[in-house]
Amino acid sequence: MNSLIIYSTTDGQTKKICESIKNNSIYKKSTEIINLNEAFEKKIIKYDRIIIGASIRYGRHNPMVYKFIEKNKDALKNRKSAFFSVNVVARKPEKSTPSTNPYIQKFLKNTNWQPNKLGVFAGKIDYPSLTLLNRSIIRLIMFITGGPTDIRNVYEFTDWEGVKIFSQELDEM
Ligand SMILES: Cc1cc2nc3c(=O)[nH]c(=O)nc-3n(C[C@H](O)[C@H](O)[C@H](O)COP(=O)(O)O)c2cc1C
Repeated sequence: MNSLIIYSTTDGQTKKICESIKNNSIYKKSTEIINLNEAFEKKIIKYDRIIIGASIRYGRHNPMVYKFIEKNKDALKNRKSAFFSVNVVARKPEKSTPSTNPYIQKFLKNTNWQPNKLGVFAGKIDYPSLTLLNRSIIRLIMFITGGPTDIRNVYEFTDWEGVKIFSQELDEM
């Protein structure tokens, strides 16, 4: 099975999750990973399976994700497909599944695409690498939502075992 994994990332965590999905797949050797910009140039019809992963920044996925899906809606409908979102709200158990995560629900409202499989993963907060403004805003959001606020630290919430299971489930779809 030829697979294409497309990522939309700002700080790299979504790409890292894509790499883990690939490495845990039995189709690893026939899986390609590319970023969203490159995907616009690609003929995706030559792949049997398309997986798209996108992170959340200030409440939304990159609008280009929706453009890409609209542009390729027929190809996406005619092959195996999956979508996953990366955000920090998903670190909370009650918002960690596709049916309970608000960004996945918003995604489903914003697109006509019904992927065969949906996923949601908690991302990472790398305080030291953020700009002063972003660091202050994210720290405030974390404070309000009961998350970690020590700006000297990096907090990776990603459940790598969950990513592995997702990859195995994708292989079975
Ligand atoms: C500036 C900024 C804004 C963010 N906004 C949100 C948000 O609105 N909701 C959320 O759940 N996570 C938010 N996050 C968390 C990111 O989704 C998380 O850091 C994720 O790992 C980013 O993935 P990426 O490195 O692939 O871009 C934000 C992170 C940053 C740095």
